[in-house]
Amino acid sequence: MSNLLELRNIGKSYGDDVILSNVWFALNRGTAIAIVGHSGGGKTTLLSIMGLLQKPTSGQILIDGQEIDSFDSHRMAKLRGQYLSFVFQRARLINSLTALENVMAPSWFIRNGEDVEQQAKALLEQFGLSHRLHHKPQELSLGQLRRISLARALLLKPSILLADEPTNDLDPALAEEVAQCLLQARQSGVGVVIVTHDVGLAAQADEIFRLEAGTLQPVANQ
Ligand SMILES: Nc1ncnc2c1ncn2[C@@H]1O[C@H](COP(=O)(O)OP(=O)(O)O)[C@@H](O)[C@H]1O
Ligand SMILES: [Mg+2]
Repeated sequence: MSNLLELRNIGKSYGDDVILSNVWFALNRGTAIAIVGHSGGGKTTLLSIMGLLQKPTSGQILIDGQEIDSFDSHRMAKLRGQYLSFVFQRARLINSLTALENVMAPSWFIRNGEDVEQQAKALLEQFGLSHRLHHKPQELSLGQLRRISLARALLLKPSILLADEPTNDLDPALAEEVAQCLLQARQSGVGVVIVTHDVGLAAQADEIFRLEAGTLQPVANQ
């Protein structure tokens, strides 16, 4: 079986600024990979390349064995919808919608006919938020907003989940809750990539890499 996601010798430059070079990476089903590295090192850039939101300057990307280099924007968008979900650093929820509506919103259009509402409620319950279904984002804590954004991403049933600093700015107990929700996705075969500064979270991943001088280096997990 092919890897869910594979990067072959990826490079990314902005003008003369080389951000990534010689990046090789492979993600399998049901595994979580953590990427650590100093701020400004290119982690978000790398994640956006993995998520097909940005094109690399050089190298190849394969999603489930398909080399996407020749794909037009329509095929890329289709592939993104089929395989990928994101948890962004800022939750990007819609302020006029409740927690439950926010979780359901993207799935309404993609998975029509299925019982999206029941599944959204089940996810929110699993994440300890059944008492906050009808609250709006401004009435919720940062930890709750992150879990809502994670539930929204998972309801889309992605094969690949990309999370950018998902536990940033959370106190340790909340960070641990979000981490557990994220890592649990492995059980249904999701491949998870987590960019993080949180050593506790990174240690729970199956593999850890450090992004240094634009390249991924494996880190021994103690
Ligand atoms: N669209 C862009 N144009 C030019 N430079 C960018 C752009 N996006 C990011 N950068 C630069 O690339 C470097 C890596 O940024 P980023 O991927 O956000 O790092 P990290 O997530 O590790 O903090 C930074 O120096 C940043 O200023
Ligand atoms: Mg970043």
